[in-house]
Amino acid sequence: YLNYRVSRTRKEIFETLVKGLQRLEYRGYDSAGIAVDGPTKTTTDMSGNTICLFKKKGKVKALDEELYKKDSLDLDEELCTHFGIAHTRWATHGEPSAVNSHPHRSDKDNEFVVIHNGIITNYKELKEYLKTKGYEFESETDTEVIPKLIKYVYDNRESDNVSFSTLVERVIQQLEGAFALVFKSHHFPGEAVSTRLEGVQEKNSHNRSDSFSGINSVGDGRAVEYYFASDASAIIEHTNKVLYMEDDDIAVVKGGKLSIHRLNRRAGEDPVRAIQTLQMELQQIMKGNFESFMQKEIFEQPESVVNTMRGRICFDTNKVVLGGLKEHLKEIKRCKRLIVIGCGTSFHAAVATRQILEELTELPVMVELASDFLDRNTPVFRDDVCFFISQSGETADTLMALRYCKNHNALTVGITNTVGSSICRETDCGVHVNAGPEIGVASTKAYTSQFVALIMFALMLSEDRLSLQPRRLEIINSLRMLPELIKKVLTLDDKIKDIANELYLQRSLLVMGRGFHYATCLEGALKIKEITYMHSEGILAGELKHGPLALIDKDMPVIMIIMRDACYTKCQNALQQVTARSGRPIILCCQDDPEMTKNAYQTIELPQTVDCLQGILTVIPLQLLSFHLAVLRGFDVDFPRNLAKSVTVE
Ligand code: F6R
Repeated sequence: YLNYRVSRTRKEIFETLVKGLQRLEYRGYDSAGIAVDGPTKTTTDMSGNTICLFKKKGKVKALDEELYKKDSLDLDEELCTHFGIAHTRWATHGEPSAVNSHPHRSDKDNEFVVIHNGIITNYKELKEYLKTKGYEFESETDTEVIPKLIKYVYDNRESDNVSFSTLVERVIQQLEGAFALVFKSHHFPGEAVSTRLEGVQEKNSHNRSDSFSGINSVGDGRAVEYYFASDASAIIEHTNKVLYMEDDDIAVVKGGKLSIHRLNRRAGEDPVRAIQTLQMELQQIMKGNFESFMQKEIFEQPESVVNTMRGRICFDTNKVVLGGLKEHLKEIKRCKRLIVIGCGTSFHAAVATRQILEELTELPVMVELASDFLDRNTPVFRDDVCFFISQSGETADTLMALRYCKNHNALTVGITNTVGSSICRETDCGVHVNAGPEIGVASTKAYTSQFVALIMFALMLSEDRLSLQPRRLEIINSLRMLPELIKKVLTLDDKIKDIANELYLQRSLLVMGRGFHYATCLEGALKIKEITYMHSEGILAGELKHGPLALIDKDMPVIMIIMRDACYTKCQNALQQVTARSGRPIILCCQDDPEMTKNAYQTIELPQTVDCLQGILTVIPLQLLSFHLAVLRGFDVDFPRNLAKSVTVE
């Protein structure tokens, strides 16, 4: 937030920044920080400018309280031109703590401070290099290399005339990954530089995560306020006039004027970014164009699976590296058995990937519901490797199972979506699935990211098995295509809504499948139960004749998952059994399968991918179906009755 020739007290500046952060809390938070101009005093460059940093773990409210505790800063001081930055963090590297939160700084004098959204994939190399130049790092984050690097570039500049934006350009040319950045420096008071690079992340018209500038013209046209934000909700109270920044745009505010140029600009190549007027209300912005967080999270899946893979799969060399497991890889490879433990949806991610884990690791794999695992006092040995799958990282049953396995001296691995959670902290090593905060109580994008993370684990473990290379290659190539295929599945939304219209007054809904799709049946039925309050059951098609067939008649709605894989013929048998009892199945099948269209009451035709990833494409229609059913039945999909997002009691 930059005010130019507008008199603002420091208290007002704090309020603007803190309010902006509070508006972003819905995206998830674990800590927050702020940097503002401090009182004039002796600085290393003798300019007299200082920057004060405040950082705090927890909610933005905790940071807000911290600001007013300090008596070092005069809250009533009027600042005619001032630039302040603030950030709320959802950890991806390093646990939530004050030191890991943003802004990050170049040195103890806060010469350069930076806030960052995204991920720097080559931060380890940069950190090593900067350490050889004498830089000391205080946090565990990837971001901290950025302020250190800009100071390094500044200290080694060829002349005193190098501009702030040139320094930033030199820095971002060294960065790999995805980022939206804002820089502040006491060498360039009242000047702001911002840039972005989304990298492989696809833009989604529903949910622009772009950085953009908001402009609020005050008074005579020379007095202005500028806002840089990653989300309109942070600034909509102040202005609805915004410019969207594109990849490689460098936006600079200097002398009260905003200019945007391209990285590596040649003369006369400045882009024109049109000022747009936001028509949305705050609540709408938080959910994008969606009716609920659950719907938004379902539609985020083309991006969230990319975020799970980002920086971990090299599609050129077919190498998969999960950094959090590297140190324990030898131990994992020597183990006798894998035990994968979770609750609810997280358990289903284990069921979904069990077969490919068995195939690629060539180890026995047990999948366990945490509560039942504990009830049975399951034998666990020191040469077992136990995985704990949890979106929140706080589920009490899973946490108890983790402590039980630790007591039995097994190696413990966390697969969570919440850095710094209890499961993260207490496991020996782990993988963060990076799906982004999930707010809807019914888990959707966390499931598909857990699914991808477990498959990446199987790929990492099988890297040196020669005979498995063709299979690995097939899976890695399919992972590359996955976001596009998810997008295709999401285009079926209207058709699925029509089906929901036919089903929403029913009392019960059966979901049947086998092989790689048994997990989809369980997960689909769970989604339907928890948000529509209809009875629903996931049935293994192989078990049909052992009991569930008695339920089938012309009135019982049945969804069947029949994809072209090793179980296709067996699934066709199940289909015959259902149609012979006058059942009218809705079939999730591959495109252009006349056998299915002939026998189905309705079909939902899906793009095909490798068998072990197909479950990601079959679960999404059921997520959408449960969503539409719940809306039609008049329920709040984000907050189903009797359920909580994290279940911290056994
Ligand atoms: C269902 C759902 C729950 C959770 C379960 C475990 O949509 O969200 O079944 O999957 O409570 O939670 P986490 O993954 O946080 O351990």
